[in-house]
Amino acid sequence: SRAIKIAPSILAADFANFGAECRAVEDQGADWVHVDVMDGHFVPNITFGPATCAAIRPHIRGVMDVHLMIAPVDTYIEGFAKAGADIISAHIEAGPHIHRTLQAIRVSGAKAGLAINPGTGLDGLENLLDMIDLVCVMTVNPGFGGQRFIDMSDKVKRLRALIGARPIHIEIDGGMTPETAPLMARAGADVLVAGSAVFKGGSVDNPAPYGANIRAI
Ligand code: DX5
Ligand code: ZN
Repeated sequence: SRAIKIAPSILAADFANFGAECRAVEDQGADWVHVDVMDGHFVPNITFGPATCAAIRPHIRGVMDVHLMIAPVDTYIEGFAKAGADIISAHIEAGPHIHRTLQAIRVSGAKAGLAINPGTGLDGLENLLDMIDLVCVMTVNPGFGGQRFIDMSDKVKRLRALIGARPIHIEIDGGMTPETAPLMARAGADVLVAGSAVFKGGSVDNPAPYGANIRAI
């Protein structure tokens, strides 16, 4: 297995075929499947909730990586854990009590991820390092797929130094392409989310482009 994991975002998949899309990207070499949950409140777009996550869960053999772009968060954590999320990421910007939110994720049995918008720094993160399994560094403003990459190399390098030897993943989300991905890998990321760059050119009936796209990232 490669050092850098690729997590295709089903935000760029066929919404009427999530099960088959998940199977197709895993067959084509995806390491994790990234599931973008949006509420039309924290972000200006709406996707789906725990019921859809539960429906796609049996179609994912590996890790279901759920990225919650919702506020408030805490009341929904148990629902996403019961839906089978392996990792649940919540945004540091989504409420005043991120510590409580991360505690609730761990209590639910899922691994805890902390997502950070492009405009947010790493202040206070040292207080949370014992509570997180993953930091998701956003390289677009969340809400939509297919946006232009915002270079967060410096933040990722500082984050890598802050994490030290702790077993915490650094995941990059937004605008990953064969051009931008190496920058993030060099800065210290080990998981790359990619939506449009993975799903372009393919379909469940013609999944080979998914594999070529994953290998190109
Ligand atoms: C953005 C989502 C991303 C998005 C990435 O709000 O969190 O996961 O799907 O899409 P691309 O790879 O197209 O930028
Ligand atoms: Zn995401």
